[in-house]
Amino acid sequence: MRMRKKKNLAPRMERCARLLIQDPQKLLGHWRDLMPDARELRLELGCGKGRFTAGTAAGEPDVLLIAVEVVPDAMVVAMERCMAAGLTNTFFIDANADRLPSFFAPGEVDRIYLNFSDPWPGNRHAKRRLTHGNFLRLYRQVLKMGGQIHFKTDNQPLFEFSVEEIPQFGFQLSQVTRNLHEHGPVGIMTDYEAKFYEQGLPINRLVATMVPWEEPFPTDLKTVKNRWLDVFASDVSEKDLGERVLSEGNFLWHLFSWKLVPCLEGDAARQALAETSEERYLFYYEYPPEGVPLIRSVMLEDLSALPVDQGAVPGADWYVVDKDFTWTYAQPHEEECGPYFCRREN
Ligand SMILES: C[S@@+](CC[C@H](N)C(=O)[O-])C[C@H]1O[C@@H](n2cnc3c(N)ncnc32)[C@H](O)[C@@H]1O
Repeated sequence: MRMRKKKNLAPRMERCARLLIQDPQKLLGHWRDLMPDARELRLELGCGKGRFTAGTAAGEPDVLLIAVEVVPDAMVVAMERCMAAGLTNTFFIDANADRLPSFFAPGEVDRIYLNFSDPWPGNRHAKRRLTHGNFLRLYRQVLKMGGQIHFKTDNQPLFEFSVEEIPQFGFQLSQVTRNLHEHGPVGIMTDYEAKFYEQGLPINRLVATMVPWEEPFPTDLKTVKNRWLDVFASDVSEKDLGERVLSEGNFLWHLFSWKLVPCLEGDAARQALAETSEERYLFYYEYPPEGVPLIRSVMLEDLSALPVDQGAVPGADWYVVDKDFTWTYAQPHEEECGPYFCRREN
């Protein structure tokens, strides 16, 4: 949301301090302590100025509603609305939604609202859409089984993308409509929605219910590489990534050798790999040896038999990850470098 910078943000936030959760990590697994009788714990991601937040919290006083918003200038308006209405069942987190698993324990959340999320048109920024698979994986980490995502948008391309994307990550769609208010207003409107409704624009809505699902390990190298970078290089600037890792003559493991992300090295890395117990997958990226599968499931014993030096298999760097990409091990072709072991942070 592009907003003019709000005047007096600090004192206004201060006046709403009762509603702001300063340290959401500390409540991990304990959010219901805020409201022990709460029937459900729900999140709203990207609450903006909070018309929906305040309306929903007022309409369902037995539900604990946590609104997450990355732009404090918008969030303060939402907080003021909830303060003015005297609501005690809604709280705010000033953070990016990609941090959810560090705030909420597995299964702690009953429902997630995504209202008029930024559409991020074009493929280049698709990963930033709140209905992209990368976010859906995070939602799976905090939602209870059978928990739901309630999604509304005016944006047709975003809706069509979401209708395709969401079921691929273990959610069943229901209540899919491309004209929610066709026969008159339905449910609580957001600020954006009220504006679009007045203009006569159709609103799309769907509900997605989480069902048991296991993500298959990808079978093509491009997907593996992209997922690897999404997870292990998520905090690295585009500049560093472009110049030091992805440009000609560089390698994925340069992420570690340039110390762009923290990792273990040498014997400590070997030891960390030996202590892993999940399913392990090996992939070659740069200069894979001929005739060898580029991606395969491996046991620890298979790995100890692999050559690590240039002489044996020229240029063959190899990487190991667990099925969910929670850790990776990188064996560079340069004998004096690595190996490296990195565990992703939530
Ligand atoms: C288009 S506005 C919609 C606001 C509100 N939901 C409504 O319908 O009126 C999208 C909001 O989502 C917030 N947002 C976008 N990406 C976010 C993210 N990754 N984490 C938290 N908030 C996000 C933006 O700052 C903005 O306030």
